[in-house]
Amino acid sequence: MDRESNLNRAETFSFVNPWIRYFLFFFSFLFWVFSLLIVGIGVYAKVQKATTVRDTFLVDPAVILIVVGVVMFFITFCGCIGALRENIRLLKTFSFSLVLVFLIQLVIAILGFFYSDQTQDAFGKFVKKAIVHYRDDLDLQNLMDYIQKEFKCCGWNNYTDWSWNLYFNCTHDNPSSERCAVPYSCCTAVPGETVINTMCGFGVQAQTYLDADKAIYPVGCADRAVMWIESHLLMVGALALGLALP
Ligand SMILES: *[C@@H]1O[C@H](CO)[C@@H](O)[C@H](O)[C@H]1NC(C)=O
Ligand SMILES: *[C@@H]1O[C@H](CO)[C@@H](O)[C@H](O)[C@H]1NC(C)=O
Repeated sequence: MDRESNLNRAETFSFVNPWIRYFLFFFSFLFWVFSLLIVGIGVYAKVQKATTVRDTFLVDPAVILIVVGVVMFFITFCGCIGALRENIRLLKTFSFSLVLVFLIQLVIAILGFFYSDQTQDAFGKFVKKAIVHYRDDLDLQNLMDYIQKEFKCCGWNNYTDWSWNLYFNCTHDNPSSERCAVPYSCCTAVPGETVINTMCGFGVQAQTYLDADKAIYPVGCADRAVMWIESHLLMVGALALGLALP
């Protein structure tokens, strides 16, 4: 009896401030659609991908996308329907999940901070594989190009890491036409240049750091990429906490 009257009251009274309610609904809905998109991309990648990328990563990135998308789908679904119907149980599940996500991120960020050497090693192994297979897979190539352009860096430790790749290897008897080169994504942009000179990195591995600095960004991506990942992990965590508090 008591329970029933409680439920009735829950339906007639509005527990939740309407502004917070619409805010919650709007953002949950946004991320709900986003989660569907992530799952879609993951499934597409899983069906389409060649095997080289899967071998390069410890875990198939398509599977990570699908798992993250599905988890996000259920969390945002709780937020969406909970806000719409003022279902307290769903809203509690929603905020509990967000706090959980925040705590997991916090733990990862703290671990990443204390084990930053190990984190760097793990990413380093991945980037090394991506450099070795740069010419074997278009997605890896795009990814490495993106990282190098975005962070204005070249290789993992420095630009000479491109010798890990068969085509760019700087050994004297390498028959490749790209011997001692680095991909053009390492190159500094020339002001006013409209057509990208894809050969701007040719021969730079044979040059000293200071000479190479004129055509490319010779610094490795290690420090910059890890710093970026840590700062963004914190940001996503803060976002989750901000949504969970109301
Ligand atoms: C590039 O990094 C490697 C490994 O850390 C180091 O041995 C090498 O001397 C560096 N090369 C230059 C030109 O800085
Ligand atoms: C470049 O190729 C040579 C010969 O195949 C190999 O011995 C060397 O280890 C390669 N360089 C790097 C940095 O992997």
